[in-house]
Amino acid sequence: MEKLLEGRVALVTGAGSGIGRVDAEVLASQGASVIVNDFNPEAAAATVDAIIEAGGHAIACAGDVGCSAAITDAINTAARQVGDIDILVNNAGIAGNRRAFHEIDDEQLDRMFQIHVKGAWYCTRAVLAGMKQKRRGKIINTSSILGMAGRTRASHYAGAKAALIGLTKAWAKEFAEWNIQVNAVAPGRIRTPILGDFANTEEYRNDLLAKVPLRRRGEPEEIAWLVAFLASHQADYITGQIISPNGGEVI
Ligand SMILES: NC(=O)c1ccc[n+]([C@@H]2O[C@H](COP(=O)([O-])OP(=O)(O)OC[C@H]3O[C@@H](n4cnc5c(N)ncnc54)[C@H](O)[C@@H]3O)[C@@H](O)[C@H]2O)c1
Repeated sequence: MEKLLEGRVALVTGAGSGIGRVDAEVLASQGASVIVNDFNPEAAAATVDAIIEAGGHAIACAGDVGCSAAITDAINTAARQVGDIDILVNNAGIAGNRRAFHEIDDEQLDRMFQIHVKGAWYCTRAVLAGMKQKRRGKIINTSSILGMAGRTRASHYAGAKAALIGLTKAWAKEFAEWNIQVNAVAPGRIRTPILGDFANTEEYRNDLLAKVPLRRRGEPEEIAWLVAFLASHQADYITGQIISPNGGEVI
């Protein structure tokens, strides 16, 4: 059986860890050549090595998605090596670190929007001309259940993730003319390093059991296969949608 993404070129941001790393691995397993971005060059290189070891094709593209000129240059350089990008997964992100509204200073607020919102904007801008020329493209933004439902002590994160939902819907309408589909995944609690030690605390465990009907965290693979489907030809009629694998926490 032909692989879902044979012949496609994909860029996954923040692919040195967690969900992004598994997104990159699953897209590669389905035949895509993957450009692996991460802020951390060693982490990006490790994902590339894992993909190549598994028989896939990948190159690294280190850089901060929140730096407009530098990330645009890095993406253009990578695209010259492997071809114009068909699939963009805007995944790079940081945690909100559980701060009350009055504890969030300007620097933290700016960083949150710089990475999640402007980062997705800059990467989308860098790949769009190529997609328009091919009259084909898939953009998948990584929002969160916090962008859908909010949460206390995380308003900068929730606001940035909600902004990604707005961008997803606006871009879906604006780019449809070029047969470019734009969707978002909005994960619930997924087992990755993003929460650090907090994910091992009694407080976190009790909160999870009280609020998640399926009574467990999700695995990165449970996001990555959804991303692969949304990136495929089989999802060509899906655009502007927010799909939330969250164990039933937000329904
Ligand atoms: N894990 C969850 O429970 C969860 C839930 C909802 C949404 N998300 C979102 O999923 C995405 C991935 O999170 P994760 O849990 O895999 O986290 P993670 O910490 O495991 O991975 C995030 C990766 O992004 C990279 N990164 C951070 N800032 C960057 C930047 N400016 N430029 C390039 N790369 C950068 C990091 O170096 C890291 O490798 C994030 O956008 C996060 O907000 C995660």
